[in-house]
Amino acid sequence: MRIDIQLLPYPPDPGLLSNRSVVVIDVLRATSVVVHALSRGALEIIPVETVEEAFRKTKAFSPGTVLTGGERHSRKIEGFDLGNSPREYLPEVVRGKRIILTTTNGTRAFHFVSGGKEVMAASFLNIDSTANRCMELRNDLLIFLSGDEGCFSLEDAVCGGMLIDRICRKGKVFTLTDASLAAHVLFQRFESNLLEALQSSSHGKDLMQLGLEDDLAYCAQTDLFPLVPVFRNGVIKAQ
Ligand code: MLT
Repeated sequence: MRIDIQLLPYPPDPGLLSNRSVVVIDVLRATSVVVHALSRGALEIIPVETVEEAFRKTKAFSPGTVLTGGERHSRKIEGFDLGNSPREYLPEVVRGKRIILTTTNGTRAFHFVSGGKEVMAASFLNIDSTANRCMELRNDLLIFLSGDEGCFSLEDAVCGGMLIDRICRKGKVFTLTDASLAAHVLFQRFESNLLEALQSSSHGKDLMQLGLEDDLAYCAQTDLFPLVPVFRNGVIKAQ
């Protein structure tokens, strides 16, 4: 099994995707929200690229069954039900609901890699379950980092490095690309203090300036949920 990681968020060559499992990571905060919301009983999450699309999609479902969530410039979008803080996605709010989610980087990332054989969402919150699922699937793996407005994102790379670490510790022989080796080394630098990686990153600093430091502490926790969200036919559901 070959493990590659794409460190910058541009659409991969579709030919490279069809035989690979793909794991999308956006620690701050889209994939942390996806994992958290599904674990709190949300029915499914529909990632869309624009605010207009979110409002349009909402109209296709019966009132009371759907919620809009996400952010622009890390703030809740006007007219939306929820922002992009995992802590807003309480069980009593999301249970049984379909969530139309739009975020700056994370939701777009799912569409970039929709041609993958199996497309999953990971964050620190479900890292071990994701590693187990990748092992079960036995496909070559592409870890796709959502980044920050087209740029490299430290916290996503550390999380990708942790996924590589967990997979490799499970005792099989893997081929790591240079990018995978680099992400693994980066993870080892922050292994004893993942929160430090989030606090050092540029997006982490932006969120702290907005008073959202509790989101960083929440998203830095590992293995809270034994679930793996899967993106198929435009919809993310828990497996
Ligand atoms: C994104 O997808 O860009 C993020 O999740 C942004 C954020 O939550 O602030």
